[in-house]
Amino acid sequence: MIIWLKILLFILGFIILKWIIIAIIFREEIRTAQKKDPAAKSFLEVLLLYEGLHALIAHRIAHFFYKCHLFFIARLISQIARHMTGIEIHPGAQIGRRFFIDHGMGVVIGETAIIGDDVLLYQGVTLGGTGLEKGKRHPTIGNNIVIGAGAKVLGNITIGDNSYIGANAVVIKDVPPNSTIVGVPGRITRQDGRKIDVSLDHIHILDPIMQKIEELQKRIEGLEKRRPL
Ligand SMILES: CC(C)(COP(=O)(O)OP(=O)(O)OC[C@H]1O[C@@H](n2cnc3c(N)ncnc32)[C@H](O)[C@@H]1OP(=O)(O)O)[C@@H](O)C(=O)NCCC(=O)NCCS
Repeated sequence: MIIWLKILLFILGFIILKWIIIAIIFREEIRTAQKKDPAAKSFLEVLLLYEGLHALIAHRIAHFFYKCHLFFIARLISQIARHMTGIEIHPGAQIGRRFFIDHGMGVVIGETAIIGDDVLLYQGVTLGGTGLEKGKRHPTIGNNIVIGAGAKVLGNITIGDNSYIGANAVVIKDVPPNSTIVGVPGRITRQDGRKIDVSLDHIHILDPIMQKIEELQKRIEGLEKRRPL
């Protein structure tokens, strides 16, 4: 009986020690989460219950193995983390300091993505590639950037420092620093604090599929005129 109690105490001690070490190493990220999420009530809550933090911890370990060319172990850790948190970060992705993923479910970060310091992502964000190309194919995100829920940032593009990407935006081109981007495809609505005058009339937005159909229709009509049926 005593031996079982000792084993139990040992395991308990080990778990507590593990969380203390994590709290020390990741204190900056935990403080960031407390600052950026008004719903965060305490340091302990973020440490134990925030999946964004847990995904980042797993990524730091996976990235270490990735850099040692132990790709299988790296991928294994990232996949286990994905199952536990709903956040998929490729072990090759480079992530800066004070990174925070709020809510997190459905976030995907590609292998060659580079993320600067003080970046905040919400649920459903994709930092992905646009095709089957090899090499650097994922975005480079600067410092101090917020990427809204469901936004997709695709391809080897650069998002300048101090920018906001709106919820559900699809960004496929470089974004200059200090910009706000919204819509599909993403358009700059604010730069260096000044509002940029673009039409955000989503009702009358051009439908690219309709445009193609109309183009084809015109070509068919042209062909029919040249060679009547
Ligand atoms: C993009 C964002 C940062 C803009 O913030 P802002 O600086 O207050 O922007 P503005 O209010 O100047 O908006 C500029 C224009 O874009 C529109 N807009 C704002 N966000 C938009 C979005 N996500 N998609 C489409 N249009 C958007 C506004 O209606 C406004 O249009 P108007 O000029 O015709 O009135 C913000 O709206 C956003 O999407 N944040 C992400 C928040 C998020 O994901 N939260 C998840 C919590 S769980």
